[in-house]
Amino acid sequence: MKIAVMGYGTIGSGVVEVLDINKDRIAERAGEPVEVKYVLDLREFPGDPMEDKIVHDYKTIVEDKEVGIVVETMGGVEPAYTFVKAMLEADKSVTTSNKALVAEKGADLIRIAREHNVNFQFEASVGGGIPIIRPLNKCLTADEIEEITGILNGTTNYMLTKMANEGADFDDVLKDAQDKGYAEKDPTADIEGHDPCRKIAILTSLVCGKQVDFEEIHCEGITKISATDMKYAKAMGRSIKLLASSKRVGDDYTALVAPFMLDASHPLCGVNDVFNGVFVHGNVLGDAMFYGSGAGKLPTASAVVADVVDMVKHQHTNIFIDWKPEKVELLDYKESENRFFVRTDSPKAEVEAVFGKVEYIDGVAAGEYAFTTDQMKEGDFQDKAQKINVLNRIRLG
Ligand code: HSE
Repeated sequence: MKIAVMGYGTIGSGVVEVLDINKDRIAERAGEPVEVKYVLDLREFPGDPMEDKIVHDYKTIVEDKEVGIVVETMGGVEPAYTFVKAMLEADKSVTTSNKALVAEKGADLIRIAREHNVNFQFEASVGGGIPIIRPLNKCLTADEIEEITGILNGTTNYMLTKMANEGADFDDVLKDAQDKGYAEKDPTADIEGHDPCRKIAILTSLVCGKQVDFEEIHCEGITKISATDMKYAKAMGRSIKLLASSKRVGDDYTALVAPFMLDASHPLCGVNDVFNGVFVHGNVLGDAMFYGSGAGKLPTASAVVADVVDMVKHQHTNIFIDWKPEKVELLDYKESENRFFVRTDSPKAEVEAVFGKVEYIDGVAAGEYAFTTDQMKEGDFQDKAQKINVLNRIRLG
């Protein structure tokens, strides 16, 4: 099998490396050797083992009938979409690690692949090296999935873990994450939650079998989490995690990305550092957890190459993926219910006049205290919170 890799950055070069490290094993499992024929990139790579395979025009790959599988590791929606579509229309299977592409164009590319009797796979687009897409499509197809809740972003999980362990402030931890290469120069997609938002949109689309638009998911990042919040979490025996969650409510779905203060008994409470974890509840399965390396060069490349092997074994056979372009209208998140942790400096009498009887956490920080509410609708909480001075609030899980 001759393949092409589009995008020779961190993940693309990882794919080449994995194909080399595990060459013989991969050939055995695929049933034939897998060889990179082209690497598409705008740059040249003098001295690199792929130096002679670099091409700059995607049409070179489109027109080469010998190439049966294409890996897309460029990132972003365009030109990745144009290139991937052209590959599928030329009867080549494609695997991608690109969540932006999958979240926006997944249904469309799955349809095109089906029409051409090839495959479009995207295991690496969610949870890096953790298997979650294939389990949802295959192992859990007997279930009605009622909840998926995940820590789906390694960068922010690293930052929150460091804040919790070292009492460090957000800005210092962000700088450290950037220095270590976990956070990008422009960290917006991670710290504002846009990255896990796209990932939960993909998982929810697979659960519903229909398109869930990430723009419609209420999304809060971690930029408001402070060292003081971490002190409260510690005092309460909880940990603060950025969760991406979707739930089935009757025939409808609700989804949310936001920081939660998790109880020690929560299955995701102990998922630390750059690791990801995905909790799944099915109506007949009950609970399942997927845990592991959710980002990084080789873990992500491992999932991409696994797709390549699967696609070598399924040449001329389209593996059905139930994700139709028809759109799901998510329930308004303000109707969903949560408990809240609230920090305030308003008098307790005012708090009780608005929220009724609450549980207090005193003595953690000077000039303020905190309380936790009962379960209430998000919309009701917002109305009530306006009546006192809220220093910060975090949902409880
Ligand atoms: N920035 C992402 C993360 C990369 O930290 O999880 C993997 O999608």
